[in-house]
Amino acid sequence: MNYFKIIGGKSLNGSVNIRGAKNSVLELMSATLLTAEPMILHNVPNLSDIQTLIDLLSNFGTSVEWDKENHIMKLHTPVIKSVKAPYEIVKKMRASIYVLGALMGRCGEAKVSSPGGCVIGQRPVNIHLLAMEALGAKIEIHHGYIVGEAPSMNGVRRLQGGIISGLVRHQNGVAITTHGGSVNAIEAAVLAEGETVIEYVSIEPEVDDLINMLNKMGAKISREIKDGVNIVRIQGVEKLHGCEYSVMPDRLEAGTYAVAAAMTSGCIEICNADVSKMENFLDKLKEAGVKITNTDNGFIVDARNVKIKSVNVEVSQYPGFPTDMQSQFMTLMSIADGVSILKETVFENRLMYVPELVRMGADIRILGDNTAKFTGVKKLYGADVMASDLRSGASLVIAGLVAEGETILHRVYHIYRGYENFVENLRSLGANIEVLKEDIE
Ligand code: EPU
Repeated sequence: MNYFKIIGGKSLNGSVNIRGAKNSVLELMSATLLTAEPMILHNVPNLSDIQTLIDLLSNFGTSVEWDKENHIMKLHTPVIKSVKAPYEIVKKMRASIYVLGALMGRCGEAKVSSPGGCVIGQRPVNIHLLAMEALGAKIEIHHGYIVGEAPSMNGVRRLQGGIISGLVRHQNGVAITTHGGSVNAIEAAVLAEGETVIEYVSIEPEVDDLINMLNKMGAKISREIKDGVNIVRIQGVEKLHGCEYSVMPDRLEAGTYAVAAAMTSGCIEICNADVSKMENFLDKLKEAGVKITNTDNGFIVDARNVKIKSVNVEVSQYPGFPTDMQSQFMTLMSIADGVSILKETVFENRLMYVPELVRMGADIRILGDNTAKFTGVKKLYGADVMASDLRSGASLVIAGLVAEGETILHRVYHIYRGYENFVENLRSLGANIEVLKEDIE
C-alpha cells in the first residue's frame, strides 16, 4: 500500500489543468448502457473509480477502449449479456448503483447488489427504489441484491412513465434531495413508455451534464420550476442513439487546488474550470480574503501576502456550499485568524478528518448535531494521519503542505479515486510531496 510523505512550508505557484468531473463521468458511463450504439466520451479523467465502473460495465457486455493519455473513452454495449451487478464490484464503489436505472430502462430488469453504508454516512438507496416503483417496477431485496422487474406486455418488459415525487427528505428542517436518486430516476425514465415528471429533482451541475448527454442521444428531457419545485419532465422514447460528448470540468478538483493555493499563501492559475458552477465556494474564499480573478477558461487564486480570515460555513445542496468542498475549506479555516463555525447538513458523518487535523495541532471542537467550532491556530505540525475518504484525504494533504515538519498520510488509495495526478500536479506547483510504499500491508 502506498503512502504520501509531505514536508510542509512551500508556497504553491503556477498553473494546473482541471480534468473531467468524476461525479459526472460515472453517471455518463452508466447511461451509455441505454443505447446499443457506440458512444464516445471526451475529457475522461484517469481515476480508479472509473476503472471500477469499467469492470462493472464489462460484466454487462460493454466493450471499453480508454485512451488515457488523450482522455477519450469509447463504450459500446450492443447487447446486455447480464443484468447482474455483483457484490464484489458494487462494494468497491457506491456510484455502481447508477446502473440500476440504466438497466431497468434498457432491459426492464436488473439485479444490483445493494451498496450498503459507507464511512461518510449511512447513504441508503430507499429513494432510488421508490423512483423505480413510481415507474411501475416491482422491487424486492433478495440476499443483498436489489431485484427490479418492469411490467411485462407481450413478453416485453418496459417501465411506464409516472410521477416521481419523493426524491426529497427533510433533515433537521433542511430539505435534502438526492443526487444519485435523481440520476437513477432520469436514466430509468428516458426509455419508459409515456411521460414522466420528476419533482424535487437535484439541480447539481453533474445531473445537468447527464441530461445534456441523454438529449444528445435522442432523449426528450426538459427542466422547469413549478411553484418553487425543481422538476424534470421526460417524454419516453423507443430508443436512444450513440453520440460524442465531453464531460464537464470537475468543480471539486478545481476547488481543492484553490484551497491549496490559499493555504500555502500561493498563486495558482486554475485552467479548464467553470467558475459559474463554483460561485458559493468562491464567494467564501473571497470572504476569507483570497483574491479570485476570472480568466478565459478558469480563474486565478492569489493568496500571496494574505492573512486568511475566519468564515462560517453551512453546507447545503447546489447552489449552496458543497459538502464535497467542506473538509478542504475547513482545513483552511483551521489556520485562519479567528473562529469559524461549520454546519454539515448533507451527510451525517463527514467530520472524520477533524480528529486527524487535531493530531496536527488544529483547535477544533465538535459541538454535536454535525457542527464544529474551528479556532484558527498559528501553525499545524506534521504527524501520521489517515484518509477516511476521498475529500478528507485531499484535505489532509493540504494540511501537510503548511505543517511544520513531516506529514505521513496513510490510505491514500482514496485520493486516486477522484484526483488524477494529484501528487504530480502538486509537485509541479512546488510542493514537497512524494509517494512511498508501506512495509506493512
Ligand atoms: N439519501 C437517502 N436516501 C436515498 C438517497 C440518499 O436518505 O435513497 C440521503 C443520503 O444519505 C444523504 C442525502 O440523501 O444524506 C444526499 O445524498 P445523495 O443521494 O444526494 O448523494 P449521492 O448521490 O450518494 C453524490 C456524489 C457525492 C456528493 C453527493 C452530494 C457521486 C458518485 N457522489 O452522492 O460525492 O457528496 O452527491 O452532492 O456523484 C464525493 O465526490 O466525494 C462524493 C461523496
